[in-house]
Amino acid sequence: MKIDQFLWILPSVKSKQNFVNSILTIFYLLSETNLFLQPFANVTGSLNENGVCQCSVYLPDTAFPVQKVEMLEITARVLSEKFEIELTKVSQYTKAIQIYEQKIRNLTIKVEHMESTSVSYTELDFQLLKLEINEMQRLVTQLKSTLVGSNVIVEQLYVEIRNLTVMVNDLESLDKNNILAIRREIVTLQNRLKECEKDRNQTTPPSYFPPGSCGHGGIVNISQPYVVQLNWRGFSFKYGAWGRDYSLRTPQKDLYWVAPLNTDGRLLEYYRLHNSYDDLLLFKNAKENRIVYGEGSGIAVYNNFMYYNIYSTRDMGKLDLNTNTLALRKTLPNAAYSNRFSYAGVGWQDMDFAVDESGLWVIYSTEETTGNIVISKLNETTLDVLHTWKTRQYKPSVSNAFIICGVLYATRPVNTRKEEIFYMYDTNTEQEGRISIIMDKMLETVQSINYNPSDQILYVYNDGYLVRYNLIFQPALH
Ligand SMILES: *[C@@H]1O[C@H](CO)[C@@H](O)[C@H](O)[C@H]1NC(C)=O
Ligand SMILES: *[C@@H]1O[C@H](CO)[C@@H](O)[C@H](O)[C@H]1NC(C)=O
Ligand SMILES: *[C@@H]1O[C@H](CO)[C@@H](O)[C@H](O)[C@H]1NC(C)=O
Ligand SMILES: *[C@@H]1O[C@H](CO)[C@@H](O)[C@H](O)[C@H]1NC(C)=O
Ligand SMILES: *[C@@H]1O[C@H](CO)[C@@H](O)[C@H](O)[C@H]1NC(C)=O
Ligand SMILES: *[C@@H]1O[C@H](CO)[C@@H](O)[C@H](O)[C@H]1NC(C)=O
Repeated sequence: MKIDQFLWILPSVKSKQNFVNSILTIFYLLSETNLFLQPFANVTGSLNENGVCQCSVYLPDTAFPVQKVEMLEITARVLSEKFEIELTKVSQYTKAIQIYEQKIRNLTIKVEHMESTSVSYTELDFQLLKLEINEMQRLVTQLKSTLVGSNVIVEQLYVEIRNLTVMVNDLESLDKNNILAIRREIVTLQNRLKECEKDRNQTTPPSYFPPGSCGHGGIVNISQPYVVQLNWRGFSFKYGAWGRDYSLRTPQKDLYWVAPLNTDGRLLEYYRLHNSYDDLLLFKNAKENRIVYGEGSGIAVYNNFMYYNIYSTRDMGKLDLNTNTLALRKTLPNAAYSNRFSYAGVGWQDMDFAVDESGLWVIYSTEETTGNIVISKLNETTLDVLHTWKTRQYKPSVSNAFIICGVLYATRPVNTRKEEIFYMYDTNTEQEGRISIIMDKMLETVQSINYNPSDQILYVYNDGYLVRYNLIFQPALH
């Protein structure tokens, strides 16, 4: 029977409403057949002659409702088909829902995973940030070292990157969202670094020249001044000189010397020695000595001897720094002296001793050259003049001079805060030339400049302050 089939199917029907509707329909159809309502309407019984009981059953409708049953069967089949369709639909939906359910479950799992691990995500991000910052720091440090002197842009980048590091550390515990902001900043910084590097590639190709080497093409730039300290005698001792011994005999021994003149700006009487830069900085372990007498701030120290102009003479003195005794005194032929042709703004520096990679020099003037600079190479053992070069540069119009690799460089003031290296004379080629390298200065007057070949630094005495400058050389031009 179809109904049986129905009933068998029914428990698996998922849609409740469909199920109820179906049952109602079936009962309606059954009621129409009258099968339930009037089964046996009337019975009459009687005995016949043989004593057998006879009954007649009267059915309200004597004809069996074949047509109605057929209809029922047809309707049932239709219904059954409808149900099957509904059922397949339901099972389709169920499948779809199951898939969606799985998708949602997958998503939930993902989100939960993200939520539960968001801390480690952030940590990872911070680790990456730190790596990037470290990389930049490395780059900037490299840039800094290759630029030798201070480069304002790189210095600033360096500060900014250090700031960034601090920021990241602060944020790590506070705020995850700012990672984006920091990232943007990092990108900006990285771009600027790249530009910096490009600039460096264009302007200063490999510019490292080992100390003592003359494989370069001369000074091309100079660093910002680095103030070491006020001289040990105090602010009123505005004249003097200082430097670092260039010693070939004992290169491992460090020796810094500071020689402030007396306040008259003329008399060289006291000087101090320090065996290390740290001692110098801390005014510690100083060896203080007295000389009788030197003149002017054209002092130089070479191989543990101090060279200076002996007071009020055209003589050169050579002082043994170990014993503080005058080892040698010799006249510098024809030299003008006693403030005849000193430097501009600096009195009593008629003789300016200089040390370069090749040894000892003296820069001075003579009457014969009418005050123009004369350069003599000295034998430092005997103080004999080995060779002399005459320039066309008037000595009293330059503020100071120094020699690097046989090339004399002269400076002049531009204003109270700037000095210019403006003149050069190459004793190797006997050529003179004009250059323009601006030196920032702390105070107005540069009293002396001493070059040290072993560190390629200028030691400058600036109105009582000890100041250093790093030099930047260009590659040889040939
Ligand atoms: C049963 O049948 C008799 C005679 O045929 C009739 O008189 C009587 O009314 C019927 N009873 C019912 C309940 O229909
Ligand atoms: C749910 O995740 C499981 C395991 O990762 C994967 O096999 C399945 O295809 C995912 N289901 C859906 C619907 O994305
Ligand atoms: C670095 O940080 C300090 C203090 O947080 C701030 O004053 C300074 O301007 C910052 N420098 C740069 C270059 O961002
Ligand atoms: C600069 O030069 C170096 C080596 O010469 C090179 O590795 C680097 O990529 C260059 N940088 C730029 C920005 O051109
Ligand atoms: C020279 O160095 C200074 C920094 O000390 C820098 O500002 C300047 O641009 C440099 N000049 C050249 C031509 O490289
Ligand atoms: C300097 O003088 C000493 C002693 O006379 C001599 O031995 C030495 O060769 C001289 N040096 C030079 C470079 O002339």
